[in-house]
Amino acid sequence: MKTRMSRQRLLIAMMALPMLAHAAEDALLLETRAVATAMPPKLMAELQKEMAAGGLVSAIAACRDTAPQMAKEISAKTGWQIRRVSLKNRNPKAVPDAWEKAVLTEFDQRVAAGADAATLEKAEIIDDTYRYMKALPTQPMCLSCHGNAGEIPADVKTKLRELYPDDRATGYTVGAVRGAISIKRSSM
Ligand code: HEC
Repeated sequence: MKTRMSRQRLLIAMMALPMLAHAAEDALLLETRAVATAMPPKLMAELQKEMAAGGLVSAIAACRDTAPQMAKEISAKTGWQIRRVSLKNRNPKAVPDAWEKAVLTEFDQRVAAGADAATLEKAEIIDDTYRYMKALPTQPMCLSCHGNAGEIPADVKTKLRELYPDDRATGYTVGAVRGAISIKRSSM
């Protein structure tokens, strides 16, 4: 009787372990997603405020300084690494690593197959590091700085050329994946 009980307990424990691991992973996802989702609306608000106050050229500073600043603040608060990456980057440092590149390529394929870029995310545990990416969709307001040549005003073009001589972040259309927020958590 006794051995049967403990065997039963063992069985329950064995069944519960993967479930617990799964629940822990779900909690990680919820927590990480919440942080990744909070940033874009704040940035959009900042962009819109700058555009209304000083026009497009001065709004360049919002994408240039505010976004990295926000990422830095969240990084300091959470201890996670947070940055923006793109397959066609403007900031020379926004080059994706191998995992990020594969995920961005997958995002593009999913959008080409009809998915809504706003819904795309990816999470994976690699070598004790929790990695997460959330796609940043191109919206109409992004086109004056990331759209086709005809959509970017001349003064914005000049400023962008001056600041980013190797700029690749143009030619986007609404709905396309402009890039992604990428989060790395090594202490899980
Ligand atoms: C006023 C011009 C302007 C607007 C509008 C704008 N951006 Fe940007 N964007 C920039 C600049 C400048 C950079 C480079 C920032 C830097 O130096 O880190 C940039 C960089 C980025 C990056 C980082 C990757 C890279 O290519 O360097 C992403 C992602 C991005 N923008 C997405 C968006 C999205 C999405 C929108 C619309 C919601 C948007 N941007 C609207 C000017 C703009």
